[in-house]
Amino acid sequence: MAEKNKFGSKIGLVAATVGSAIGLGNVWRFPAEAQQGGGAAFLLVYVLCVFLLGIPVMLAEFSLGRGAGTDAVGAYRKFAPRSPWWIAGALPVVASYIILSFYMVVAGWTLGYFLQSVSGALYRGVDVATPDAALDGIFAARMQEYICGTSGPLLNTYALIAINLGVLLMGVRKGIERISNVLMPLLFVLLLVFCSVSLSLPGAAEGLKYFLAPDFSKITPAVVVAALGQAFFSLSLGMGILITYAAYYPKRTRLVRTAVTVSLLDMMAAVLMGFIIFPAVASFGLDGAEMEGTALVFVTLPEVFARMPATQLWSSMFFFLLLVAALTSTISIAEVSVSFVQNRFRRSRRSACMIVLVPLFLLSALSALSFGMLDWVRIGGLGIFDFLDTAATNFMLPVASILLCLFMGWRKPGILRGELCNYGSDDSRLRGPVLFIIRWVAPLLILAVLATSVL
Ligand code: PHE
Repeated sequence: MAEKNKFGSKIGLVAATVGSAIGLGNVWRFPAEAQQGGGAAFLLVYVLCVFLLGIPVMLAEFSLGRGAGTDAVGAYRKFAPRSPWWIAGALPVVASYIILSFYMVVAGWTLGYFLQSVSGALYRGVDVATPDAALDGIFAARMQEYICGTSGPLLNTYALIAINLGVLLMGVRKGIERISNVLMPLLFVLLLVFCSVSLSLPGAAEGLKYFLAPDFSKITPAVVVAALGQAFFSLSLGMGILITYAAYYPKRTRLVRTAVTVSLLDMMAAVLMGFIIFPAVASFGLDGAEMEGTALVFVTLPEVFARMPATQLWSSMFFFLLLVAALTSTISIAEVSVSFVQNRFRRSRRSACMIVLVPLFLLSALSALSFGMLDWVRIGGLGIFDFLDTAATNFMLPVASILLCLFMGWRKPGILRGELCNYGSDDSRLRGPVLFIIRWVAPLLILAVLATSVL
């Protein structure tokens, strides 16, 4: 692969990879899971999962991608030609495309809420004096109206597809790397600003305690499985993303150091998010039960902002932060397919971007409308959005990760060994433990996670 198709700097490649890792998983999954899993006790289990399993699997993806210098399918084909191993690469390409189709929709919601915050529409008719229960009702109804609507979700999803197209057309270095170099530092600045605001609210300590008091009695096997799933989702593992991005890493990039940096930054973003959400929610005496997902972000937090001075400013900034987190993730997911189409079908970057993104105008529309106009469509009892989410996240990703471990651990351990120490020029002490985990620990544990979601 020509050097112009590589990331241009160390910072740039870390920013792009972190951009993929930090997404809505950090914002609305992590704090809720931490709270349910016993606060700091969960955090401990989570950190162990990241270090013992997440980083080794990340290293296996990096090694495969950089070793082959091509897309996920091409990488398996290159190292195991004329064998069915290419399926292990095709699986994450398909899964990531499915995920892309609905992640684009959620990213669209964040854009919608950002625009409604800027215009003030979200807070129309609401002020500090509105009683709690009424406020809750208003924002719940507004979320319902928005998400179940037609033009709002559709247009914002389309806007996101267009932004993705714009960035991806510019290429790896001028598009992905450049935008990540700007957006990632900005994201951390925003996180820190919100952290300081939230921690200085009256009653913040109460919320912090809620988030961080370690309750080891809550650590059950189910919580460990949840921590593991969260680690994989948050680090963007099993989707071919890291294989694809690592193909753009220069040969001198130190993989172990990169993996540790990316994981630490990702964890930091998650913990900062906890520091923002818990104190804010506690300070305004809001219902801690609504700590999760869409309701947290689109109902509870607007309630917090409505209670604060400069409502529109904080609200716009927060949804912008969310948009940034979501956007860099969508870009990385889309790149998996773009690079696949480019290599496999020998297309120019331009036509590959079109082939991947244009059909999304139709596909994502199905998910965008699945809470409104299309909510009568049910697959296995689930709406379109939830069905795609479950199929890709709970089944395809774990299977793809197990296959990756078997391939790198048993079929091609030489590549893992070589890439980890840059064929002798970097520290090689971690090769043994990483290989052991990839061969034995990771496949068995992921299998256990898969079993719990099937049974
Ligand atoms: N890692 C992202 C997050 O934490 C999630 C993600 C999913 C990223 C799919 C890319 C692809 O939200």
